[in-house]
Amino acid sequence: MVDVKKVAVVGAGLMGSGIAQVALMADYDVTLVDIKQEFVDSGEANIREGMQKLESKGKLGAGITADSIMSKLIKSIDLAEAVKNVDIVIEAVVEKMDIKKQVCKTVMDNGPDHIIFASNTSTMSITEIAKDSGAPERGCGMHFFNPVPLMRCVEVIRSDDTSDETFETAMEVAENLPCLRGDRYIAPVLKEGPGFIVNRMNAPVNIYIGWVYDTAKERGLDWAQIDADAGGKMPMGPCELADYVGLDTMMHTMNYYKETLSEDFEPPKVVKEMVDNGNLGAKTGKGFYDWNQGREGIKQKVKAAEPAGLFDLQTSMAIMLNEGCRILDEGIASGYKIIDDANMAGMNSPGPFGWGKSNFEKAAEILEDLVKKTGKEYFKPIELMKSGGFKKMRK
Ligand code: 3HC
Repeated sequence: MVDVKKVAVVGAGLMGSGIAQVALMADYDVTLVDIKQEFVDSGEANIREGMQKLESKGKLGAGITADSIMSKLIKSIDLAEAVKNVDIVIEAVVEKMDIKKQVCKTVMDNGPDHIIFASNTSTMSITEIAKDSGAPERGCGMHFFNPVPLMRCVEVIRSDDTSDETFETAMEVAENLPCLRGDRYIAPVLKEGPGFIVNRMNAPVNIYIGWVYDTAKERGLDWAQIDADAGGKMPMGPCELADYVGLDTMMHTMNYYKETLSEDFEPPKVVKEMVDNGNLGAKTGKGFYDWNQGREGIKQKVKAAEPAGLFDLQTSMAIMLNEGCRILDEGIASGYKIIDDANMAGMNSPGPFGWGKSNFEKAAEILEDLVKKTGKEYFKPIELMKSGGFKKMRK
């Protein structure tokens, strides 16, 4: 096991600054790296705001202030230099394979012989990212959920080449990173696949939600009507959550699933149009919603909206149950309890298996109808789900 004291986070955006914040809270020596000074400075500002919130609530511990913690943060725009004496690098750069491969190679070329590279990619192959780095056995995945200080789940992913020492060290570092909403939940991903566990299971729901977006547009409905369909049963409705995660991230990941899983993951027209117009959601201030009104303003808009009658939570559950069974079939997770727990820890929403155990026949009917309604063959129920055979795979 590598004795980790120094952590470098590469990419100072939404996810990177959140990861750096919890690494500082875990008392690691943290270096935040990005390509431009302004990016690193805005990442630092995000972290400082979070630390000041904690200080104002007396949650930083005796004698510790936001300033004292922030004084430990090292900022850099020189990756090769920044990783010279670091034990582990957590990469959170844009979801582009060539850029991630380049970052991984630079880390392995310039870091000490024991340095570990952990990618926070939402979907991509860790094996591919680390393949040409010169040390693929010291590559793995550490996938966090947005916002990192509040979402408990971390998926730790084994690539085809990850060594036991690398995997165990990454598991230990992940466990050491505090969360403001309870204990961290570390989901072991035994074998890599597109989107790992939580994103993979929720991925085909985006095919359905995409169909809902495009249908609502054709009918001239208001986006808040779709979120009203969720009836407050989700922390954020399908439109607000897409804006929160980022419409570019949604499009990049769906294009990746289109290459790796099925043509049916073609991103919805509505999302492509918004991304083409530079409306990426909360991070640009506009997407489905105008975020200048704040989350409270959006909540009031949804509350006042007439439900569209297009998005149905049970359909979403049936899709997740089917995909959860694919994850079990492919040996990505050892049992359905891990899948349900990871979804609750990563999305603050229940996984499908609790409901699915007594509703799998109904789920199969819902999916057969959905195939007819949308023309998307990917929704076809698989044997492990239809037969209820998954019930024997709890752990
Ligand atoms: N540091 C310190 N404190 C912080 C903080 C930070 N960085 N961020 C928030 N806080 C504090 C707030 O000040 C607030 O404190 P208070 O309770 O004393 O007022 C507290 O934490 C709660 O913050 P919010 O009021 O913002 O939290 P909400 O209760 O409104 O919940 C939410 C916000 C957790 C985002 C909730 O809406 C939610 O669960 N949304 C769904 C998010 C989700 O699904 N994420 C996963 C997306 S998919 C993903 O990430 C995968 C990736 O691959 C793309």
